[in-house]
Amino acid sequence: MTITVDSGVQQVRRLVTELPGPRSRELMARKVAAVAGGVGTTMPVFAARAGGGIVVDVDGNHLVDLGSGIAVTTVGSSAPRVVDAVQEQVAAFTHTCFMVTPYEGYVAVAEALNRVTPGDHEKRSALFNSGAEAVENAVKIARAATGRDAVAVFDHAYHGRTNLTMAMTAKVMPYKRGFGPFAGEVYRGPVSYPFRDGGVDGAAAARRALDLLDKQVGADQLAALVIEPIQGEGGFVEPAPGFLPALAQWCREHGVVFVADEVQTGFARTGDWFACDREGVVPDLIVTAKGIAGGLPLSAVTGRAELMDAAHAGGLGGTYGGNPLACAAALAAIETIEAEGLVARARKVEELMTRRLRALQERDPRVGDLRGRGAMIAVELVRPGTTEPDAELTKAVATAAHQQGVIVLTCGTYGNVLRFLPPLSTSDALLEDALDVLDAAFASVATA
Ligand SMILES: Cc1ncc(COP(=O)(O)O)c(C=O)c1O
Repeated sequence: MTITVDSGVQQVRRLVTELPGPRSRELMARKVAAVAGGVGTTMPVFAARAGGGIVVDVDGNHLVDLGSGIAVTTVGSSAPRVVDAVQEQVAAFTHTCFMVTPYEGYVAVAEALNRVTPGDHEKRSALFNSGAEAVENAVKIARAATGRDAVAVFDHAYHGRTNLTMAMTAKVMPYKRGFGPFAGEVYRGPVSYPFRDGGVDGAAAARRALDLLDKQVGADQLAALVIEPIQGEGGFVEPAPGFLPALAQWCREHGVVFVADEVQTGFARTGDWFACDREGVVPDLIVTAKGIAGGLPLSAVTGRAELMDAAHAGGLGGTYGGNPLACAAALAAIETIEAEGLVARARKVEELMTRRLRALQERDPRVGDLRGRGAMIAVELVRPGTTEPDAELTKAVATAAHQQGVIVLTCGTYGNVLRFLPPLSTSDALLEDALDVLDAAFASVATA
């Protein structure tokens, strides 16, 4: 197994100015004047290059990347196969629209997705641009296939920012406030959240959710049940074992389309090709995006042929869906995951990160929970001895890490989760260094 360290970007954390540096400050002033205020940024530093496990900013600072641009650059942000494939494709043609004059790359991506996603049944895929667009299309497909309207989602869910996916997303701020009215026929059930639900086991948590959905919506009204196998923006909530299999079984029994939203968890991120693989859950439809194409915008719905073929010709698509550059990148990203053994690499990252974070948890009672799989790991921060969320501490630790050149993201319904999503091209040395910074950040921040 090789870890590709992209040429040209030195794999070391190095600060040569204060953060943000002068050039980033200039660009931020231009951003404020030119870009809509609703588009926020986690850090006030502007990127110039990136590769391996490093983002280099416009002032020459080298930052360790524990975010992968929100779980996107799993293979790295300038992975050699992806760069070569895109360069070749851009010189050949940039766009024809698959719905006008199709091209092989789209078909090859569909074939690859049909091969790598869970289950060996006959499948079809359709390609789109963003995760939210793919989630919307999964719902369209499920409705067309079942003739039903209702959609079940879960507490803490995040499915996107378009109108239907805002309705499916749980958290109001910043995703929904002031942006309604939202799409109808979306119903929410309780998820399995072991840290916060008193350790209810997976089967019991599933019964609780399914009983409510059955009584309040009706199983025979549901077109789809849509769930993230490990919740992303909601706080890296990993359900208790048995929860997902029980939901999938119930869906099968009631003719409800089981949709796994693997936008954040897919493509080796969790130490399996897909998070559903861990418990052998085979979704009827799986939604993918983010890690699919090494940073180029692409998303997909893949699923049972009879469901995917239910929508009438012309009912699915879009001008850019499955753009040739994004398809070339996806094929190269999938090849990279296979050739470089990145599924196994994600498990190594898990070992390293959980060893370090467990040690932190043992000495710092503010770390209430440590969870996640592969290179998708999180700590949930609380008031010691309670489960009361500590969002201020979370923000302060993240800010302290940022100032030392480590890109770290927060998430969670209560804003109290630090999440770690390094590219799988990050070396162990960089991970250890970033975790040293994190240890120091915890030590430097006192609880209010
Ligand atoms: C699980 C999940 N679904 C859907 C989305 C929406 O994807 P996009 O931002 O590409 O629309 C995200 C984005 O974070 C996600 O994590």
